[in-house]
Amino acid sequence: MSSSATSAPIRGHFEERYGAGSVLEAPLNGVIEQMLGHRSVRAYSDKPLPAGTLEQLVAAAQSASTSSNLQFWSVIAVQDPGRRERLAALADKQKFIVEAPLFLVWLADLSRLSRLSQAQDLTIEALPYLEPFMVGLIDAALAAQNAVVAAESLGLGTVYVGAIRNHPEQVAAELGLPPMVMPVFGMCIGYPDPTRPASVKPRLPQAVVLHHEQYDAQSEAQEIAAYDEVLTEFQAGQGMATAGWSPVVLKRLQTIGSLRGRDRMREALKALGFELR
Ligand SMILES: Cc1cc2nc3c(=O)[nH]c(=O)nc-3n(C[C@H](O)[C@H](O)[C@H](O)COP(=O)(O)O)c2cc1C
Repeated sequence: MSSSATSAPIRGHFEERYGAGSVLEAPLNGVIEQMLGHRSVRAYSDKPLPAGTLEQLVAAAQSASTSSNLQFWSVIAVQDPGRRERLAALADKQKFIVEAPLFLVWLADLSRLSRLSQAQDLTIEALPYLEPFMVGLIDAALAAQNAVVAAESLGLGTVYVGAIRNHPEQVAAELGLPPMVMPVFGMCIGYPDPTRPASVKPRLPQAVVLHHEQYDAQSEAQEIAAYDEVLTEFQAGQGMATAGWSPVVLKRLQTIGSLRGRDRMREALKALGFELR
């Protein structure tokens, strides 16, 4: 991958990311170009991963920043087909969990520090609080996203699997998790099936997410209306239902049922050993 910068106005990936006519008047390099080309991959070829790929991805993940160097995360590589089947059954029966050459489960892991404190007969008063748990979530997400970027640089595709949180206790039992470890999300990794390619999904206009000095939602409604059109066009091109963005995201959280069991997350976390004081 090239890291040399170019100074011409950027179309290409930028248009795919934001819609036709979008131009970035700034230099771009190979890393950013690759990031702009991200798309979730849900169809994999059966080509195996080269030896050492998992270790490369974990090294990239461990290279992410981590709050206070606490390294409050772990990851489980699941190869066993039976275990994959059982995890898929717990995660909305998403078949790419079984099909992808590699399936990772990223964990917020406070158990290491708990074991360390027990071995030294120390009480660490702050560990049961909400803040360290949030650190675990943040650390796991940053590490995982580094792995995604690394995987994509190797020509691999990935998809996160948040549905692994639909049944946290059962997933924890399947993975033999000790107390104070939470499965945050799964991740499929493999070579994309060239016969079923994924596309870059346009995002909200920058005006909606980028604020200067203070939060400003003044132009938000019209920007979102424009984005609804961009996404409708994208969906039409993909042969998907043409709903735009706002109706879909509103529906996504409209009812408690839409949380698919995750409405009991507080209870599940308690069962996993998190007090969240
Ligand atoms: C934390 C997280 C959980 C996700 N869970 C799922 C999932 O369970 N199933 C799925 O098909 N996609 C899942 N996705 C992928 C998103 O749907 C996808 O990133 C989003 O629609 C944007 O599309 P893109 O990644 O192709 O740009 C998840 C993404 C994230 C970040």
